[in-house]
Amino acid sequence: MPRRWRVAPGGAVTGTFTVPGDKSISHRALMLGALAHGETRISGFLEGEDCLATARALAALGVQIERPAATEVRVHGRAAAGLTVASAPLDMGNAGTAIRLMMGVLAAQPFDSTLIGDESLMRRPMERVAQPLRSMGARIETDAGRPPVVIHGTPQLRAIDYVLPVASAQVKSALLLAGLAARGRTRLTEPAPSRDHTERMLRAFGVALEQAGGVIALEGGQPLRATAVRIPADFSSAAFFLVAGALAAERPLRLTNIGVNPTRTGLLELLKLMGADIRVTPREGGATGHNAEPVADIEVRRSALQGITVPEKLVPLAIDELPVLFIAAACASGETLVRGAAELRVKESDRLAAMAAGLQAVGVEHELLPDGLRVRGMPGLSGGTIDSRGDHRIAMAFAVAALRARAPIEIVDVANVATSFPGFEQRARQAGLGVTAL
Ligand code: S3P
Repeated sequence: MPRRWRVAPGGAVTGTFTVPGDKSISHRALMLGALAHGETRISGFLEGEDCLATARALAALGVQIERPAATEVRVHGRAAAGLTVASAPLDMGNAGTAIRLMMGVLAAQPFDSTLIGDESLMRRPMERVAQPLRSMGARIETDAGRPPVVIHGTPQLRAIDYVLPVASAQVKSALLLAGLAARGRTRLTEPAPSRDHTERMLRAFGVALEQAGGVIALEGGQPLRATAVRIPADFSSAAFFLVAGALAAERPLRLTNIGVNPTRTGLLELLKLMGADIRVTPREGGATGHNAEPVADIEVRRSALQGITVPEKLVPLAIDELPVLFIAAACASGETLVRGAAELRVKESDRLAAMAAGLQAVGVEHELLPDGLRVRGMPGLSGGTIDSRGDHRIAMAFAVAALRARAPIEIVDVANVATSFPGFEQRARQAGLGVTAL
């Protein structure tokens, strides 16, 4: 991957295409496959650096994983009791989902493990998972809340009844995975809905799980049965093209086979509130075994966008899409306000600060708030140089911004785009964005 892009100003986008497989679902398919009895066959796998880190970690724990093709994976499940001690620390790279979910898996193992990651991951908070795991009996150390995460083997965890302080699918999923191996019934209460891929996939693997009114409960000790998992294209990767289309699709832009799990598609609601012309056509057949994940084709056309106040309840449902939503806001008429999004400060970068600095660099008036951003829409953006801070979504968001710029936008530190969207540059060029790797 190059370190830097230059994106030509202006232009139009169009075409019919898909994007790579869903990152969240790819991590889960590998992990549940490893914990199951039998062979799990995964198609549509995201061959991105984050998911490859999960695959490498599971292999280091004794799981046999084959890749007959780039997006096809066979996981030879070892069942919960079949993992074996790794000979070295497990390097989860840039992947927050991988490290946090693996904490849930490894806390329940009888052997010791250490989890590390890249510079960004080593700065991210891990106590949100470590604390509740400790109350299940796990023995975990962090370095002032951050990795390395050292997990000491525990013979058996105890179920907990836990109210999550933040709406976090990573915390919820880690605790569900630990709960599966615990004695008793684990009961989790979410403050607001977060993505539910783990719940859906656990069911597909034969686990009984109850969900009602923000409470999720499962009985420990249930076995997982291997299954076939068809992974849809990642809505979060499609998001860059949805906004590109709303800004500059003179002719329609169609994205096919996109995962439209309603706990992920807050951006669709937000773009519609802004006045975007978006049509969603559901596809039959579902995407994961047992039809667990809804899939659709999405068509978008250039529209005159208006600024909005983002309803706070949509924030967790659009959390990874807010960087590119800020670009839509910068190109809309009027002001857009996002609050209740402090979680953005602890993603791959501090995404509120990174977006504010980037908007500054391309001449967009804005106000950085502790938990959000106020953005004043502009008729056109200036060119400028953006520091992506090694954050894939910041880099891709500003590539889209170039569609409304008057001069080139240069984006620095783009190698991590490969964590979630290998091949972004080519896709973007095919769609009509003038991305050149420098
Ligand atoms: C994810 C959950 C979200 C999201 C991340 C992927 C997941 O993080 O931002 O990119 O796959 O569970 P949080 O759980 O921290 O909100």
